[in-house]
Amino acid sequence: MKLESKMVHFGDRKKAGDYVPVTTPIYTAASYYYDSMEQLDRVLGREEPGPCYARYDNPTTNALEEVINELENGKGALACASGMSAMHLAITAALIDRPKRVLAADVLYGATTGMLMNVLAPMGIDTTFVEIGNLDAVEKAVAETKPGAIIMETISNPLMRVAPLDKIAEISKRAGVPLIVDNTFTTPLMIRPLELGANIVVHSATKYLAGHGDVLGGVTIADEEYANTIRTLSRTLGPVMSPFESYLTMRGVKTLGLRMERQCANACKVASWLATHPGVDRVHFTGDPAHPDAATIARLFPKNLSGAIFSFELKNAGRTEVFRLMDRLKMIVRATSLGDVHTMMLYPAISSHRDLSPKRRNQLGIKDNLVRISVGIEAAEDIIADLDQAFKE
Ligand SMILES: Cc1ncc(COP(=O)(O)O)c(C=O)c1O
Repeated sequence: MKLESKMVHFGDRKKAGDYVPVTTPIYTAASYYYDSMEQLDRVLGREEPGPCYARYDNPTTNALEEVINELENGKGALACASGMSAMHLAITAALIDRPKRVLAADVLYGATTGMLMNVLAPMGIDTTFVEIGNLDAVEKAVAETKPGAIIMETISNPLMRVAPLDKIAEISKRAGVPLIVDNTFTTPLMIRPLELGANIVVHSATKYLAGHGDVLGGVTIADEEYANTIRTLSRTLGPVMSPFESYLTMRGVKTLGLRMERQCANACKVASWLATHPGVDRVHFTGDPAHPDAATIARLFPKNLSGAIFSFELKNAGRTEVFRLMDRLKMIVRATSLGDVHTMMLYPAISSHRDLSPKRRNQLGIKDNLVRISVGIEAAEDIIADLDQAFKE
């Protein structure tokens, strides 16, 4: 071979030796080499397991899918490039051979509502929004609209309401409608929707699963009926997670238990402190015994993990006062996103719920004095001290 050919071929396509790496490396290969055409034929025909092309399978991403599938007790997970691509794939899988209608919770992550209204509706897939915590209203809407899928979140954002997922799953099962549940806020440590009768679980892996603010990713985890459909659709649509993001997410997942324990414990301390602060009107926290959905929370969430995100209302405040408080923060990070190791504060009126009119925000109870906090793993005293100094004139 000439040097130009050697440059291209030498060093590559080595079979791994008689060893196993302790953690899964990052495989960046776009395609995979097999000893013979016979074997490649079997792999492409799915008669023999193995990756052949990166849009179909990637060993790093497959490793992440295996661990998340196990955590959610599913029958197959698929890692996607973002939480939104995971949600899109889940909806597509649910509706592909079912009525092209969706029944959705009235409060959903803004981009999920946006996808339903601005992408799917113009394509002829209409959505009816329902007060998801009102079981009579859900039952009635299912009977009237005969949807092809129901979509809900485990904890609503930013007012932290918790709908009775187990009861909604019963309604969806009775009607034979697949239930899609976004489990981003709770993680499988707090709730495993498939065990309660949901059909497809979606995560923004950008949040708790990866946990360090350096990944954009999503995952679907499905039951027997939808796991294969999702993988088949993904092979055509190609919304898959990159191997580097899969590696980072897998690394993050290893400490998910420790992080959630610490973050939930910190959230209890910070929320209790804020609840007695003279500058705070109200705290919306799933760990509050006086929470409006306390009975559902006690039934569905473990006692020691009641959530690490909450919102609070500043007393006699609007945008100016919220901006002043947030500008004074020294350690807590003013940024969108949630679930990271660092505590983050966000103002829903200009971020997650910016696209809603002030009137609609008010209707949903998202007032101009409402701030959301995602509590991190720092020392709780430092989070409280930062808030304390920010409140002071
Ligand atoms: C509950 C929830 N679902 C889905 C998403 C979308 O995830 P991503 O930003 O990874 O696409 C987000 C993002 O904030 C979210 O909070």
